[in-house]
Parts: sequence; structure tokens; C-alpha cells
Amino acid sequence: MWRAILSWSLLGVVCLGCDLGDQPLSEVDPEAAPAEPTWTEHVQPLMEIYCTACHAPDAQTGESEGYGFDTCAKTKRAWGPLYQSTFVVRDMPPGGAPRPLSWELLTLERWHAQGARCD
Ligand code: HEC
Repeated sequence: MWRAILSWSLLGVVCLGCDLGDQPLSEVDPEAAPAEPTWTEHVQPLMEIYCTACHAPDAQTGESEGYGFDTCAKTKRAWGPLYQSTFVVRDMPPGGAPRPLSWELLTLERWHAQGARCD
């Protein structure tokens, strides 16, 4: 778990200079994201980096707007609003909070397109 977070953070740092998350997903190198993302290994660590500080039962703000992204089931259920706010409107994460990089967004999208597996 911590190893996964650490390695993902390191990847994020390596890529910070080259990818600010503003690339259209169609232009992201398909190899940059895992081929078959899983909740435990890939998606949960991203949710913990970018979302659960505000969207989890123990977050300071509670589950903001009723959205919690601390479990696979809740994240799957909220995919529509998640997609809208993070990929389309881009108001989440809000303000100056760190935003997912393009390859991380591709990971999320691929995870969902492949059936949002919870293993
Ligand atoms: C710094 C705290 C914070 C972070 C980090 C954050 N959110 Fe939010 N989010 C909020 C608050 C507060 C609201 C309710 C008020 C609002 O809409 O601005 C909200 C509302 C939402 C909503 C409801 C619709 C909307 O756009 O208002 C969705 C969906 C959402 N967040 C998804 C996410 C996702 C996915 C992430 C991570 C990629 C994320 N948020 C990160 C604080 C946060």
C-alpha cells in the first residue's frame, strides 16, 4: 500500500515538469498509464493523493457534497459526477490543490472503461 503510493508519487515527481495535466487524453502516450489498472494498485492511491483529503468520512470537510472516494464501490457509483468535475469542468480538485496529471487521468478513465475492477 505505502509502497504503491510512494512509487506513484515518485513517478508523479519525475513527470511534473513534462506533464501538467492539461494535455487532451487522446494525446497522452497510451503506454504512460498501466494497461489494466486495478483499484488497489492504481486507482486508490490516486484517490488518496488527490481526493480523499476532502472526500472521505474522516476528511475535515466530511464527504464533501456526499461524495466519498475512499472505497471502490463509492468511486464507481460516483463516476458520472467524478468524470464531469475532474475531466470536463475541471473544478476538482478545487483551487490550488494538486491536480492529477494527464497519465493519471488516463489511468482513471481506462480503469472505468475496463469495468472498474475492485481488486
Ligand atoms: C481541497 C478539498 C477538495 C479536494 C482535494 C477535492 N474536492 Fe471535490 N469537492 C470539495 C468540496 C468542498 C465540494 C463541494 C462544494 C463545491 O462544489 O465546490 C466538492 C464537490 C465535489 C463534487 C460534486 C460536484 C461538484 O463539482 O461540485 C465532485 C463530483 C467532486 N468534488 C469530486 C472530486 C474528485 C474526483 C476529487 C479528486 C480528483 C476531488 N473532488 C478533490 C472539496 C474537494
